[in-house]
Amino acid sequence: MSDDTGGGRGGFHTDLGFVLAAAGSAVGLGNIWKFPYNTGEYGGGAFVLVYLGCIALVGLPLLYGEMIIGRRGGKDVLSSMAALTAQSGIAGTLATWGVGLLAVGSGFFILSFYAVVAGWALHFVALSVGLASANPAGSEATFTALAGDGPLSAWWHTVFMVLVVLVVAAGVQSGIERACKILMPALMGILLLLLAYVSVTGGLGSSLSFLFRPDFSKLSAEAVLEALGHAFFTLSLGMGAMVTYGSYLASDRHVVRDQLAVALLDTAIALLAGLVIFAVVFSMGAEPGAGPGLVFITLPDLFRQIPGGGVVSLAFFLLLVVAAWSSGISLLEVVVALAVDRFGWSRRMAAIGIGILIWGLGLPSAFSGEFLDFMDNLTTRYMLPIGGFLIALSAGWLLSKEDREAGFAALPGGGTSLATTWTFTIRFITPALVLLVILNGLGLF
Ligand code: PFF
Repeated sequence: MSDDTGGGRGGFHTDLGFVLAAAGSAVGLGNIWKFPYNTGEYGGGAFVLVYLGCIALVGLPLLYGEMIIGRRGGKDVLSSMAALTAQSGIAGTLATWGVGLLAVGSGFFILSFYAVVAGWALHFVALSVGLASANPAGSEATFTALAGDGPLSAWWHTVFMVLVVLVVAAGVQSGIERACKILMPALMGILLLLLAYVSVTGGLGSSLSFLFRPDFSKLSAEAVLEALGHAFFTLSLGMGAMVTYGSYLASDRHVVRDQLAVALLDTAIALLAGLVIFAVVFSMGAEPGAGPGLVFITLPDLFRQIPGGGVVSLAFFLLLVVAAWSSGISLLEVVVALAVDRFGWSRRMAAIGIGILIWGLGLPSAFSGEFLDFMDNLTTRYMLPIGGFLIALSAGWLLSKEDREAGFAALPGGGTSLATTWTFTIRFITPALVLLVILNGLGLF
């Protein structure tokens, strides 16, 4: 299959390339920044258990649903939905436009604030190599000075957006696939090195029991709903990112295997990142429940006190940047694919033009923490769950049986019982659980 940076589509060259790109989308700030601080805030093991349940009941079924819609539709999220739900009349049209609009909106909104947080991680890389200097008053002051400095945040936000646009403009195969084939192994290598480090320096035992020994007295209804929302964010679901990547697959053959691999990688990397972070936290007798500042304040504080802290800090923030980069690429690709497939733009023009618009939309987040939180909440609590709800209903009820089950049918033995289990889950269980999140988001409980 040939790649194309002009008006044509291109596609992934190898199956491994697809898995690494999709895992690259899934593994991001959600895993290394959000998951650990959520776990810390909601008391550890019980939150982890509920999150794992949400991955199984909502994440996995939707991941297959999105990938098969893209694979069978063969186009951007809007065109794929339109093609596969055409026989369903008005319901198909409504679902198509609902999902398409939410996808474009989420692509713009998420990437706009995501690039600001990723930019902070870039600043910490610069700090680790001595290209920037820390505030002598300590880690909290360093982070506050960065997050409160609009032009500085905007500068790093710009650097990150340029990195993302460069890859997407280069094409699916020579940009996205090539980058992820380097970034993902690098990410796993850095994470394993950090794991080796903490297994020597201690704290691993307390970290393990914090993550895996559930204390249900700490489990609130809010924690359950937070875990469900996080399942969407961390697997890049609800806005057609996996539809878009699925559309670059050449056959139905490995969809089931690939989606399992992506979900496993995403979950394993979140757990390992949590293990490393809490090992450092506990070995220094620090607080796990520090909230969003866990990674940007607590950790740098600890890095300054541990042996070899400078190198560990560099490795950690590189990990964060690499993870965010491959996710940012997929966020931009959702909108770029739509402009290319639907409106016939050239890939390069689409990547640059849309990148500039998203960059502009990110400026308010660079200058205001409240605006950043607003964008984060709007997308994570409302837009992704609503998009996921519509996609689940479409995959379960509007697709033809042949399209819907194509990935299972390609399994040796025909995968009939798996297909039946999946269809039941995506029709009833997934939408019901997602509806709970949305209603909670609207404050109805
Ligand atoms: N999954 C990414 C993370 O965990 O950081 C965030 C994300 C990427 C969400 C792409 C949605 C998306 F389409």
